[in-house]
Amino acid sequence: MSTSRILLAGAAMVATTQHFALAQEAPKADLAAAEARAAATAKQMTPDEKLLLTHGPMALPFFPGTVIPPEAVPGAGYIPGIPRLGIPALTETDASLGVAWVGGLRKDGATALPSGLAQAATWNPDLLYRGGAMIGAEARAKGFNVLLAGGVNLMRDPRNGRTFEYLAEDPLLSGELVGAAIRGIQSNHIISTIKHFALNGQETGRKYVDVKISEAAARESDLLAFQIGIERGQPGSVMCAYNRVHGEQACASDWLLNKVLKQSWGWKGFVMSDWGAVPGVDAAIKGLDQQSGEQLDKQVFFGDQLKAKASGDPAWAARLDDMNKRILTAIYAAGLDKNPAKPGGAIDFAANARIAQETATQGIVLLKNSGALPLAKTIKSIAVIGGYADTGVVAGSGSSLVHDAKGPAATRSLGDDGPFAALMQQSYHGSAPLKAIKAAAPQAAITFRDGRYIADAVEKAKQAEVAIVFATEWRTEGLDQPDLSLPDGQDALIAAVAAANPRTIVVLETGGPIAMPWLGSVAGVVEAWYPGARGGDAIASVLFGDANPGGRLPVTFPASVAQLPRPKLDGSDWVEPNFAGDAEPGKDKLATDYDIEGSDVGYRWFARKGATPLFPFGYGLSYTTFARSGLKVSGLSASFTLTNTGKIAGDDVGQVYLVSRGAEAKRRLVGFQRVSIAPGASRTVTVKIDPRLLADWEDGGWDMPGGEYGFALGANAMELGPVVKVRFAARSWKDGQ
Ligand code: BGC
Repeated sequence: MSTSRILLAGAAMVATTQHFALAQEAPKADLAAAEARAAATAKQMTPDEKLLLTHGPMALPFFPGTVIPPEAVPGAGYIPGIPRLGIPALTETDASLGVAWVGGLRKDGATALPSGLAQAATWNPDLLYRGGAMIGAEARAKGFNVLLAGGVNLMRDPRNGRTFEYLAEDPLLSGELVGAAIRGIQSNHIISTIKHFALNGQETGRKYVDVKISEAAARESDLLAFQIGIERGQPGSVMCAYNRVHGEQACASDWLLNKVLKQSWGWKGFVMSDWGAVPGVDAAIKGLDQQSGEQLDKQVFFGDQLKAKASGDPAWAARLDDMNKRILTAIYAAGLDKNPAKPGGAIDFAANARIAQETATQGIVLLKNSGALPLAKTIKSIAVIGGYADTGVVAGSGSSLVHDAKGPAATRSLGDDGPFAALMQQSYHGSAPLKAIKAAAPQAAITFRDGRYIADAVEKAKQAEVAIVFATEWRTEGLDQPDLSLPDGQDALIAAVAAANPRTIVVLETGGPIAMPWLGSVAGVVEAWYPGARGGDAIASVLFGDANPGGRLPVTFPASVAQLPRPKLDGSDWVEPNFAGDAEPGKDKLATDYDIEGSDVGYRWFARKGATPLFPFGYGLSYTTFARSGLKVSGLSASFTLTNTGKIAGDDVGQVYLVSRGAEAKRRLVGFQRVSIAPGASRTVTVKIDPRLLADWEDGGWDMPGGEYGFALGANAMELGPVVKVRFAARSWKDGQ
C-alpha cells in the first residue's frame, strides 16, 4: 500500500507524499547504456539483418498466405529476433485492459481490468501502476514481451467508440495515469507502448479522417497528455495512429514523429505503426521505425522496398540504422534479452482478480443519491432488473477485449457479415452482480427480471422495497455511438421502473458518458463503467456500503450532444461503420476541425461556453461528507486540507484548478490527489504544479505571461472554492529545458 492510501485516524496530519510513491520504485533503465549497446549491435548487423526488426506480421491465423513462425505466441504481432546477435523476437499482445483474448485462440485467458475510464475514475496513479504491473506479469507468463497498452487519446467526443479504452479528457490526469500504468507494465522487463499517437479522437472513418488543429492547441492538449505520459512512463515504444493530421497519415507525419516526438521531446524509443496504418515506404523518413501487422497494409513496405532505398541513398541507410538502433535501445533498456519472457509461467489469478476488483471499486462513481444508498443488509426485498445482471458485467469489444480461460459468460451477436463479425459481439465477464447482491443481503427476497418486458419488470419493482436496474451501453473499437442514449429501450425501462418504485437505483455499465432523461425520477445512480473480472462484487460492495464510493468522473457527461463542439460527429452521416474502414468512396473529404475547441477539451469547453453539463469532470459523491479548505499556492507548489466531516471513512480527491490568468478566465486541472480519510480527520496535501499547465504554446516553446494567476480547490471542475491569487514572473522555455 502506498503512503497516500494509509488511513489516518484522529488529528490532522500533514501528507508530504507526492504521487507515485509506489511507482517510483520501478527500476530506472539506464537509457544511455542501452543506446550505446544498441549502436554497437547495429554495427554488427548485415544489410539483410537490418530489415528483420523493421516489420512483422499479425500473429493470428486470419490471413490466408501468412506464415506465422511456430515460436510466435498467438497475439497481435510478431517481429522475428536475430539469434546470432542475441536479439530476442518481439512477441506482442494487446493489453489496454489485460492480455487480450484474441477470440479465444490461445485458450489461456487473462485477468480483465476494468475499462480505461474506470481506471481513470480512481484518480489513483498507484493503482494504475499495480494494474500495469499485473497485466505485464500475466503477459510475461504467456511469453509476451511487448504490450500494446497505454491508450491515452483525450476524449474529444463522448460518442467515440474507444472511449472506454482511454483514460480522460484532461492532459494532466491522462498523462500521469498512463505514465504510472506504463511504469507498472515495464517493471516486468517488457516493453509497453503508449498509443495512438496522435489525435485519434473518433472511430468513424478512422483510417482517413483528417484532423485540423493548430500546433498550439495540439501541444496544450492531446500532445501534452502524451508528453507527460512519456516522461512519467518512459515507454519503449509509441504506436502511431490511424487518422490523418494536416493531410498526412499520423504514421507518416514528419511533424508528429520526427519534430515533436523525437526532436522536441528527445524520446529515444521506436515508433511502431498501428495495424494497417502505413501508407508507404516514405513513412520511414517521416519517423516511423517499424511496420506492424504488415498483412493489413497494402504492401510490406519496410522489407525489400526499404532495403532498395537504403542501398542507394546514404540518407535512407542512416535512417535504417537509426530505426534498428531505436528498436534495440528499447529492447536493451527494458532488458528483454537478459530476462526472456517464456510461455507457461505461473499466474496467481486470484491475487490478480483482487487488483481488478480494487480498481473497479475505487473507480465506481456515485452520481446521485437521494438517501437510498447504501442499502441496508437487512433489506427484505429487492427487484434486480436488466443488464444480464444474473450472468455478469459487460465488456467493451475490439482488440482490447480480455476474457478468462472460461471465455465470455454470455455473448450477444450484433451481426455484421464482414471479416470483423467476431468483434461484433457484446460479451460479459462472469462476475454476476445478482450473485454478489444475494451474498450481501442473504435474508432478502430477490427477484430478477431481464428487462425485456417492461410491464413485467414494473410489476416486480412494485412488489420490492428497492428496485435496482442494471443498464448497459456496449462500445467497440471500429464504431462510434450514434448518440448518448442507452440502447435497447433501456431508458424507457428505467423511467417505467422509477415511476413504479420511488426507491429505484440505476447501476450503469457504460463505455462513456450517456444522457439520463430519467435522472430526476430515480433515487440513486451508480456509474460502474465496464468493471472487469470482478465487477459484480465491486458493484455490490458499493451498493451495500462495504466500500464507500470515491471515484470521480474523468470525463464530462454533457446534458446533450448540442453542447458539444461538434453536435454532429464528422462523417457519421455518410461513412459506413466498419473496422477496416479504408475503402470508403470520397474518403478524402472527411476532415474534422479540432480548432473549434482547440485545447479547451471537455470541461474547459463547458467553462468557456458557460454551459452546464449533466455531470462535470471531477464529480463524484460519497457516503460521507468532506470539507475542502486552506488552499495555498507557493511557487509551483499547492497545498490544501481535506476533512472528513461525516461519520464513516472515505476517499476524497483534492483537485486544484487554474481559474484565471491576468484578466483571462481559465479552467485547467493543475494538481490532484486521492486520499483516504477517517471520520473527523483531516489531511493536508501538497501537489506540484507542472508549469506547462499554466503556459501557452507559442512560437515553438512554452510561454507564461507575467502577472496574477488565480487558483481554486474544487469538488469538481465546476464547483470551486475561494480563489487564491499568486504572481508569477514572465517565463518562456523550450521542451527539455
Ligand atoms: C488497434 C490497436 C491495436 C492493434 C493490434 C488496431 O486495430 O487500433 O490499438 O493495438 O490493432 O491489435
